[in-house]
Amino acid sequence: MAEIRIENLFKSFGDFVAVRDSSFTVRDGEFFVMLGPSGCGKTTTLRMIAGLEMPSAGRIFLDGEEVTFNRASHRDLAFVFQLFALYPHMNVRKNISFPLRMEGLPRREVRERTDEVARMLQIDHLLNRPVTGLSSGDRQRVALGRAIVRRAKAFLMDEPLGALDAEFREMMCEELRLLHDRVGATQVYVTHDQIEAMSMADRICVMDKGEVLQIAPPAEIYARPATRFVAGFIGSPAMNFLPAMGGLEVGATAVRVNGSVIAVPRLHESLDHEAAVLGVRPENIGIADEGALKGRVFAVEYMGSRQLITVDTDAGRLRVRAPNTVRVDFGENVGLNFDSKRVVVFDPATNRALASDLYAGVSDG
Ligand SMILES: Nc1ncnc2c1ncn2[C@@H]1O[C@H](COP(=O)(O)OP(=O)(O)O)[C@@H](O)[C@H]1O
Ligand SMILES: [Mg+2]
Repeated sequence: MAEIRIENLFKSFGDFVAVRDSSFTVRDGEFFVMLGPSGCGKTTTLRMIAGLEMPSAGRIFLDGEEVTFNRASHRDLAFVFQLFALYPHMNVRKNISFPLRMEGLPRREVRERTDEVARMLQIDHLLNRPVTGLSSGDRQRVALGRAIVRRAKAFLMDEPLGALDAEFREMMCEELRLLHDRVGATQVYVTHDQIEAMSMADRICVMDKGEVLQIAPPAEIYARPATRFVAGFIGSPAMNFLPAMGGLEVGATAVRVNGSVIAVPRLHESLDHEAAVLGVRPENIGIADEGALKGRVFAVEYMGSRQLITVDTDAGRLRVRAPNTVRVDFGENVGLNFDSKRVVVFDPATNRALASDLYAGVSDG
């Protein structure tokens, strides 16, 4: 069990800053996911926590004790990348116990701990079977068993499901989350896949270009993105952005988009310039005959119970997720209404979301 804290962590490679002033605390027993596009500094951060990379500046604490300059082997953290690779010539028991045998633990302890992990993963009846004949689900459980058999204080996982196809990824996400709930170990999990992050995390840490942009539970990240980057990175299709005009003061409850007045959650901050950006998710737009904004249907894609409607307006192209009971045709003129409790106002100068009465439906983690 462990709490991991990083303080003002920096990492440069020559002139290039890969991690910039990163600070966060991973709580004891938490499933913490670092999410961001390729190259944003996730692996570098994780390797610094593991002790595989030395920070250029900043400090790292495990359970309150500074470990910034401790060697990896003295941190008692398990670093896992790629869960899927098994040793094909070994049976299930040998695969799971491999890390313990490498450590040279006494045979009896190796046996007991392997049995315990196998029971936890419900593959104890397979221990003497070769891994080659196993179902793919059981193979994944064996791989997971090998990853967790070392009793580490915390698990650091770097895109462990990267090479799996979508179906297995989904299955492994469930498996990992269940295992986490059973074992209760601290987990720092790195991925560029928002769906993995949303489905497993207690809290998500969104990064871009070496910087931490927001740390919050998945629902909070989705409903109350801190920046335009976070808003655009999470959600599929992405949030729509429209140029807006404000003259925005504290307490303002509307912006103008192309001359139309659009209601927004009451603002807690003011803007010292006219330009703003309005963000609205596809499911928070309604289609009606009359609407705050007018547009023309460009495309309709049916997706079972829902449909994705693309509408061109004078302010730009919008994607709308609507129930399939809404009937619109290509080329039709429609009105658009935005859910005024759930639209986000961004400052185009900083790309930050303005604080407001934005409805989130969840409390702060
Ligand atoms: N050893 C290194 N030398 C030089 N540049 C590096 C090194 N390791 C990582 N980088 C650079 O740092 C940035 C962040 O890398 P990384 O942490 O691996 O990103 P991520 O895991 O988010 O994809 C990238 O631009 C990468 O090219
Ligand atoms: Mg990486």
